[in-house]
Amino acid sequence: MKRDHLEVVFTEQHIQKRLDELAEQINALYGDEPLVVICILKGGFMFFSDLVRRLKGCIELDFVRLASYGANKSRASHVSFTKDVELDLENKHVLFVEDIVDTGHTMHFLFGQMQARGAKSLRLAALIDKHERREVSVKVDFSGFTVSEGYIVGYGLDSAERYRELPGIYILSQASD
Ligand code: IMP
Ligand code: MG
Repeated sequence: MKRDHLEVVFTEQHIQKRLDELAEQINALYGDEPLVVICILKGGFMFFSDLVRRLKGCIELDFVRLASYGANKSRASHVSFTKDVELDLENKHVLFVEDIVDTGHTMHFLFGQMQARGAKSLRLAALIDKHERREVSVKVDFSGFTVSEGYIVGYGLDSAERYRELPGIYILSQASD
């Protein structure tokens, strides 16, 4: 029988320390300017909740959920909203908070949809940037960590809905017992 094997990549302490640095950069950039921070569900939830608690400006929070269908490679043509943003973004700075940018198709779709909403600026904070796997160009304005290979779970990231609750990040592999 195959069992999941989890090997730690970033500990809870490591992640929390990196978030202090990211929040400092974000606070410095926006200052007192009003900012809408949007969590990309579900994977972004833990990163988002830890990050927003470190933000000092005048912020509003919202949530969006996207679904991508089919095999990884065909994500481009199959991304859709299952929950749209509810706040009016007109004339506001917007920061999206995402777990991982992998091929880039999900964020490319989202940014394309958001262009028409009249925001003052659109930026992206991603906990993990797998930039070596990029198929479409996506600018990650605030990047937590870079990972080159492997499937990772924990800290919001799942494998078939498991492991999201873990406070650290792990590489998932399968081992026979
Ligand atoms: P993209 O459209 O290929 O950039 O897809 C990014 C999405 O795929 C992320 O938001 C994750 O939900 C998921 N994803 C990509 N790589 C991983 C991984 O290593 N672990 C868990 N989810 C992943
Ligand atoms: Mg995601």
